[in-house]
Amino acid sequence: MSAAIWVGLFWVLFVAVSHYFHAPIAPRVGQPGRLVDIDQYAPLVPQDAPLYNITVASCAPHIGCSLPRVMDDDAGPWVRVDRPLSGPTARKLGVWNAFDKPWYGRFVFYRRAIRPDTVRIVDVRATTVQQKPEGPGWQRLHEVLLPHRAHHAAVYLYVRTAPASAPDMGVTELSVHYGHHTPLPGFEFAGTITAAYRLHSQKVKVSLLLRRGPGVQVSRPTLRFRPDGTFKILQIADLHFSVLEEPCRDVVDRATCQSHNHTMARIEQWLDAEQPDLVAFTGDQWNGQGSSWDERSTTPIWVEPLIRRKIPWIPVFGNHDSESGFFSRTEQMQFLAQLPYSLAEVGPSALHGTGNFQVPIYAATNDTEAWTLWALDSGANAPFSLWRPWQSALYDWIHEDQIEWLLRTMRAKPVTPHGSHATRPPGLLFVHIPLPEAWDTPDKDGDHEWVVGWRQESAGSIGGQLRRGIFDAVQRAQDAETPGIRVYVHGHMHNNGDCLMRRMDV
Ligand SMILES: *[C@@H]1O[C@H](CO)[C@@H](O)[C@H](O)[C@H]1NC(C)=O
Ligand SMILES: *[C@@H]1O[C@H](CO)[C@@H](O)[C@H](O)[C@H]1NC(C)=O
Ligand SMILES: *[C@@H]1O[C@H](CO)[C@@H](O)[C@H](O)[C@H]1NC(C)=O
Repeated sequence: MSAAIWVGLFWVLFVAVSHYFHAPIAPRVGQPGRLVDIDQYAPLVPQDAPLYNITVASCAPHIGCSLPRVMDDDAGPWVRVDRPLSGPTARKLGVWNAFDKPWYGRFVFYRRAIRPDTVRIVDVRATTVQQKPEGPGWQRLHEVLLPHRAHHAAVYLYVRTAPASAPDMGVTELSVHYGHHTPLPGFEFAGTITAAYRLHSQKVKVSLLLRRGPGVQVSRPTLRFRPDGTFKILQIADLHFSVLEEPCRDVVDRATCQSHNHTMARIEQWLDAEQPDLVAFTGDQWNGQGSSWDERSTTPIWVEPLIRRKIPWIPVFGNHDSESGFFSRTEQMQFLAQLPYSLAEVGPSALHGTGNFQVPIYAATNDTEAWTLWALDSGANAPFSLWRPWQSALYDWIHEDQIEWLLRTMRAKPVTPHGSHATRPPGLLFVHIPLPEAWDTPDKDGDHEWVVGWRQESAGSIGGQLRRGIFDAVQRAQDAETPGIRVYVHGHMHNNGDCLMRRMDV
């Protein structure tokens, strides 16, 4: 074999092996308002250093994708805006996991100004020469964003700079956005790179986003009961959103239904009518299944109405969330945790799953933890076993170590007065895959069955739904001072909206 083939084979092996053994690297999160990580691309981390220089280059992410390191007194090193300009080609499907990053793509790079007294970029526009921005001071970058093709003109980047003395803080971040919907919080559209990137049989718009100023800075919200002793949670399950709009499911009139717009119109109505204190997303926010494409572009659709109303929210992951997209599950949860009004946390890294966390709800008038909200990751698919190959088709479950962590953390809470007696806070647990107990016979009071709502799906015997564990473990841990989990909330069943009572034998 020739040397070129050996090198090629070695490279393919290296990519495959490094992909499977590579733990996702957490983007470091800086302090708001400080000049941090000027060599990292982290578009939701507040950053007040304006951009100094921008360029466009092609590269292959698998073999590294960076420009020669320069750093001088004026500006930091080149930082790559991590989404390709040519379109959302990333996919994660089974064996294709190794190829989740595009092989080759065109990317925007920038350098941040380090010194406060240097020239900075105050405006950026992606457009064609025919539609170049009006007004003085615009300069066209030599490197093309999208080369000329038969059906479209070349798209360039136009940049306007200002001297250090100008009052304008400047452009502090760029992002590439797929789809026509809401941009990332704090960002605005800075032009269309392509109006119709072909993805399967559909067309996707690819845009450039820019942020002026340091970005949205919202401190982590604190949850508190209302003075009347209530706390209202709105649960939103199984949105299944993608960059490309999915067809509506489970509706009478599929022909006239627009999945994103009609779902969001309904959610806006609920938010206005119910005025919840918290929104809980119980998994499968992203469609996965080869079509989510880019979590960063899709998520603003469903978080924007909450941010606009300043409503705190928590997510848990479903089985589909990490099936396709750019991020690993850890990166997904880090991204969700950085969004405004989010109470998401990646959780202890040693545990099964990502996003095992707790959130206290405090009493109305003092800082006693009155209730605890728990979020556990019920995983995606059951681990593949050589001895039981059929099991890979089943769902994962809440593992022993997650249950132990929950019990340990719950029992470590102080006993405080709650009304007439002293107890630890009772809890409410959010998971995606239903517990098997969701299919148990509800309690009865004479002829009256303690069940409300409707149930159209009854598949209660697949994968995680067979694994009893947490319900019994919590019940065993209960005593007079530890009420345990009082409410278990799940998603996953698209056509069920029921709630049943199971008395725990304390
Ligand atoms: C910006 O970067 C380009 C490409 O590397 C370079 O040609 C140009 O001189 C830089 N401009 C400044 C102001 O550093
Ligand atoms: C959804 O609504 C937006 C804004 O009103 C609109 O631009 C878009 O075309 C709508 N989507 C569909 C599929 O009609
Ligand atoms: C805090 O407030 C709650 C609810 O109003 C009350 O039950 C509890 O006794 C208070 N705790 C303290 C330490 O004041």
